[in-house]
Amino acid sequence: MSKAADVQVFVQHRYALTPAIDCWRLARRDGAPLPPFSAGAHVEVQIAPGVRRAYSLCSDPAHTGFYEIAVKHEVDGRGGSRALHQLVHINSDLSIGAPRNLFALTHEPGLHVLVGAGVGLTPLIAMAHSLHHSGAAFQLIARVRQREDLLFAPLLEQGPWHDCVTVSYSSQGALELPDNAAHVYCCGPDGFMQAVKAHYSALPDAHWHQEHFSASAVSTGGEHGYRLLLSASGREIEVAAGQRLIDALRVNGVACETVCEQGVCGSCVVGWQDGRPRHQDECLTDEDRQSYVALCCAGCDSDSLTLEL
Ligand code: FES
Repeated sequence: MSKAADVQVFVQHRYALTPAIDCWRLARRDGAPLPPFSAGAHVEVQIAPGVRRAYSLCSDPAHTGFYEIAVKHEVDGRGGSRALHQLVHINSDLSIGAPRNLFALTHEPGLHVLVGAGVGLTPLIAMAHSLHHSGAAFQLIARVRQREDLLFAPLLEQGPWHDCVTVSYSSQGALELPDNAAHVYCCGPDGFMQAVKAHYSALPDAHWHQEHFSASAVSTGGEHGYRLLLSASGREIEVAAGQRLIDALRVNGVACETVCEQGVCGSCVVGWQDGRPRHQDECLTDEDRQSYVALCCAGCDSDSLTLEL
């Protein structure tokens, strides 16, 4: 999970998708292709000094001449979307990270059901493009309050896979979901995802895929102190009771890259070895957690923990 260097892009196009959501089209100034990505991937965008946020790519992964991101202006957010909306215009230069995918499609047979609410549709748009290209069976269910809130409305209503799209208006009634899903991919507010997951409670865990906008719980320090052993540098760092793991690292001068600080984006993930990390993220799978830990929200249930730092 090492990080590639940032890519320099500019805003080739920016346009409104809904009254609150804009789309930014990002490309290289020299016209060269951008790094390939798979549907469900996100990139980190350096919006301003000290303001870096992760956004899902919603353009067709088959085309790497540009990326598109769609971002809602969150009035009560942490300021990232506000800065993007206010500061990043057509022709602005930006640094972005290489695409990372924590919400990937499987390539198993059966019906792939994509369910998204509001701006949560963004990664599902890229997934629909990919599934369409591969000839896989899929259905995209877009849940919005009313038509003016539907992002990419022309694509969903008239695009090449429009007959695989169902738009469900919350102002008009309950959400209806197909029962014959082989895999379900869901993105939206937590309450929405919980309701969709409840509908698919009989589905095996490995067939349920979700992506959060924000975490439901943010780490606080644990009740007991412990020691961090940093395998690359050979350093030892004490984490006091009540202190967050990542704060202990930073106080001791260890640089830790973070974006969301909520266990969602995967930016702070590093390898671990000995010990018992307490995972509180929402971006790693159980398999990932055997080897990796998201520092921003992790705790520790043993006296020491070895990190690959
Ligand atoms: S900073 Fe996003 S998961 Fe840790």
